[in-house]
Amino acid sequence: MEIAIVTGASSGLGREFVKQIDHRYTLGEIWLIARREERLRELSQQIDTSARILPLDLSIRKSIDTIDDLLRDENPQVRLLVNNAGYGKRGSFKSIGLDTQLQMIDLNIRALVHLTNVCLNYMDAGDQIIQVASSAGFLPIPNFTTYSASKAFVMHFSNALTAELHGRGVTVTAVCPGPVNTEFQTVAHDGGKGEFRRIAPDPAPVVSKALNDASRQKWFSLYGWYIKLLSFLVRFVPKKYLAKSAIRYNGNRFK
Ligand SMILES: NC(=O)c1ccc[n+]([C@@H]2O[C@H](COP(=O)([O-])OP(=O)(O)OC[C@H]3O[C@@H](n4cnc5c(N)ncnc54)[C@H](OP(=O)(O)O)[C@@H]3O)[C@@H](O)[C@H]2O)c1
Repeated sequence: MEIAIVTGASSGLGREFVKQIDHRYTLGEIWLIARREERLRELSQQIDTSARILPLDLSIRKSIDTIDDLLRDENPQVRLLVNNAGYGKRGSFKSIGLDTQLQMIDLNIRALVHLTNVCLNYMDAGDQIIQVASSAGFLPIPNFTTYSASKAFVMHFSNALTAELHGRGVTVTAVCPGPVNTEFQTVAHDGGKGEFRRIAPDPAPVVSKALNDASRQKWFSLYGWYIKLLSFLVRFVPKKYLAKSAIRYNGNRFK
């Protein structure tokens, strides 16, 4: 059986990935992963492809072991893996708290690496991995310190893996969106709205571009001229100046 696996499918970009994969691919199943089971059930009723609902907290290592066991039992072909689950907390490094910082790393980095490792056992030439990074990974962002660093990891990890897997034909695309209109900002601001709501696009065009770029075997997927410009400019500015201007922009709102 051919399948796609989408993490963070209960909301935002992940939910949109599931809907568009349902339209574009002919698959036996799409595996939907997130903690909110009810949301996953609702989504499964909106798609034609049969869905496997896996209500799992991916920040816990045992959850990936559960997926590993399931893959071993069923031995499917993983045509597409979308490592999308992730979150960021805004605030000064000390104010956010160590547990939250470590959970962010567990989800944004450890779970992504672990699931990629597991799924590669079930992927062949032509199969695709989409790693959802962020434009926040282009530069060090004070008051978004752990999050921006975690997304820089995702980008480097994706690019190195792309080169490594070249001979095997499995492709890896790092998706680096700017602000997108999802629940992300609410989570980042602990219920607040965030300052990007007005300029943020809806998930649909961002996901559509990501799936097109993955099919074209692109290393990066960048949506919007301002993100392309940012990705170009950061190459020429030393990290020290990027961090200083980011803190000027982010201000000292977070103590
Ligand atoms: N929106 C933006 O502005 C933006 C910009 C750049 C990059 N991104 C990246 O895009 C990805 C998707 O975010 P989004 O914007 O769609 O935000 P979102 O609407 O908040 O969705 C986040 C998803 O991650 C899941 N998730 C969170 N913690 C989880 C855990 N411990 N275990 C399993 N699933 C978990 C959530 O599901 P449950 O709560 O049900 O578990 C939800 O489905 C993230 O990696 C984010 O860093 C977002």
